[in-house]
Amino acid sequence: MSEFLSNDYLLYPPYPPASTLAQWLEESNGITRQIFSSISIADQVVPQINILNPPLWELGHLTWFHEFWVHRDGQESKPSFMKNADYLFNSSEMAHQDRWSTPMPSLDSVLEYNHSVIESIQELLRATIDNKVAYFIQLAILHQDMHNEAFAYMWQTMGRPIPFAPFSPFTKESELETNSQTWIHFPKSTIQAGSEQGSGFIFDNEKWAHSIDLPAFDIASTPVTNGDYLEFLESPGNLAQSSPVAPPFHWKKEGDVWLERIFNQWLPLNHAAAVRHISYLDAQRFCERNQVRLPNEHELSLLMSQKQGAWQSSNLWEWTSSTFVPFPGFSADPYVDYSQPWFDGNYQVLKGGSSFTPDRLRRVAFRNFYQGQRSDHFCGFRTCLL
Ligand SMILES: [Fe+2]
Repeated sequence: MSEFLSNDYLLYPPYPPASTLAQWLEESNGITRQIFSSISIADQVVPQINILNPPLWELGHLTWFHEFWVHRDGQESKPSFMKNADYLFNSSEMAHQDRWSTPMPSLDSVLEYNHSVIESIQELLRATIDNKVAYFIQLAILHQDMHNEAFAYMWQTMGRPIPFAPFSPFTKESELETNSQTWIHFPKSTIQAGSEQGSGFIFDNEKWAHSIDLPAFDIASTPVTNGDYLEFLESPGNLAQSSPVAPPFHWKKEGDVWLERIFNQWLPLNHAAAVRHISYLDAQRFCERNQVRLPNEHELSLLMSQKQGAWQSSNLWEWTSSTFVPFPGFSADPYVDYSQPWFDGNYQVLKGGSSFTPDRLRRVAFRNFYQGQRSDHFCGFRTCLL
């Protein structure tokens, strides 16, 4: 892998100063290590389903990612701190189902591997680094941030205690001011989608900046709330369907009271909070029933970039009606499996960021993507008028 398909990544500076990268790395790896500081043998076992990963494998994988790109130049021929690291922890080579059946090193040895790799990156950051190294260090930190968030939603899926403190309000404080819910009007405009060269670190799916003519639209100032969604679920129109939309997996009804599970705690459903863990498919059905539509990725980007007074963040990844496709000028960056394999029409773009997403990943141009049937990650949605 010494010859990359594209050298575009050399066009991504400026990078944050080395001291900032060092701080981000310490923070991100600190969160990972915090998760594993209290993990029991039982916690290391998770069911073999496609939305989960064995936690130990994930720790090895995110550590391997730092080492492979920063220290080994993306080349398997260069030595690793851990024997068989490529075979065990390269997600492009280790099939998902094999992560349960392949014998793994002990937790202690993977933690030791993590310590050695991260310490040697911190050492690099204490010296002078060039743009190429800065790119791979930032890539690996952001990759680790994504895996930290994946630990959080995996723990939510399994009803485990919250694994680390969220970056922004997650429970009671996330109550929205629903009284001020309004439609924000955007006149017809031409906007820039994607990212430009020289604007700092970007992912390959943001290449390149291009103009989009956007017709006028009206978008909700607030995301759809639990109260809105419950009304939809219990509406005669939904109940009359041959297969009505079911409540989210973390809801249950006891007597007349709806409860929602937040990690390992069942709490009364907060009607004023943004509804979460809704799949794209169910969000679409909500929209059809309520005669509204999901925004596309450009409309949601415009809303987020303008930070209009009435706009209220959901602290969730918000679904868009945009299928994840390459922008004009796309070419894969060295980590070729980041975007390219997922341009198959089965993924939808999400924008924003959850309470478990650090600010460095909450750029307006960032394009998250998940399969439309998934609802285990921290996702929600807002609507536009037809
Ligand atoms: Fe990964």
